[in-house]
Amino acid sequence: MEITQKFPGVYQIHDHLATENLTPTIKVYGEKLEELEGKEYRIWDPRRSKLAAAVLKGMTTFPFRIDSKVLYLGASAGTTPSHISDIIREGWVYCVEFSPRMMRSLLDVCQLRENMIPLLEDATKPRNYLPLLQKVDVLYSDVAQPKQSELFMNNMRLFSKSDGIGIIMIKARSIDVTQSPKKVFREEESKLKTGGFRVLEKINLEPYEKDHRALICEFAF
Ligand SMILES: C[S@@+](CC[C@H](N)C(=O)[O-])C[C@H]1O[C@@H](n2cnc3c(N)ncnc32)[C@H](O)[C@@H]1O
Repeated sequence: MEITQKFPGVYQIHDHLATENLTPTIKVYGEKLEELEGKEYRIWDPRRSKLAAAVLKGMTTFPFRIDSKVLYLGASAGTTPSHISDIIREGWVYCVEFSPRMMRSLLDVCQLRENMIPLLEDATKPRNYLPLLQKVDVLYSDVAQPKQSELFMNNMRLFSKSDGIGIIMIKARSIDVTQSPKKVFREEESKLKTGGFRVLEKINLEPYEKDHRALICEFAF
C-alpha cells in the first residue's frame, strides 16, 4: 500500500486521508485503522470532519505543526480534535465544549490522549477561561451558532499569538436560514475584515458538508 505525506502529520493512503494514531489500536469514532511500515494510521473521514473536507478541497494554508498549541471551540465528542491531537503530538489542544452530554464523550477521548485538554466552557464567554490558557498558534472554531464570527474574533483577540492562524467553519443555516448561503458567507467575511482580520483562503466544503465554508484567517496588522 502506498503512503504519501500531504502536510506535516497528514498522510494520504490510496484515496484516503489519514493521521498517525497517537493511541495505537484505539479508535475514536469507528474509523478504519491501517498498519503500514510499523506505524498505525487512522483514516480521516471528510464526512465526519470539516478539517479533512477542507484538506481534500484544496486547503493550502495548513498551520498545524508537530508542537503547535491549538484552541478548539466546539470540540463536541472529539472527532476532529483527535486527528489534530495525532498531528500536533508534541503540542496540545485545548478543547472547549459547553454541552455536558458531549463533554462526557469528549472526556473518554481526552483521558487517553495527554495532549487534549477538555474545558467545559461557553465559547461566547472567553474571559471565563482566560486564566486557564496560554497563547495559541492556531484557533479552530466549529460551533454552528448564529454569532459564529463574533465569537471567533473575540477568542482570536484573547488567545491567538500575533502571527497565529484562525480557522472558522461557517455553517450558513445556523446564521440565517432565510438568506442564501452565498449572502451569509459574504456578510461573515465582511465582518471578519471589519474586525481586523485578513481572509487567506475560502474553501467550499461541498460535497462533504452542505452550505458550509471554511475561512482561514490571520490578523491584518
Ligand atoms: C458542529 S459540532 C462540532 C463538531 C466537531 N468540531 C468535530 O468536527 O468533531 C458543534 C459543537 O459546538 C458546540 N457549541 C456550540 N456553541 C458552543 C459554545 N458557545 N461554546 C462551546 N461549545 C459550543 C456544540 O455543543 C457542538 O458540540
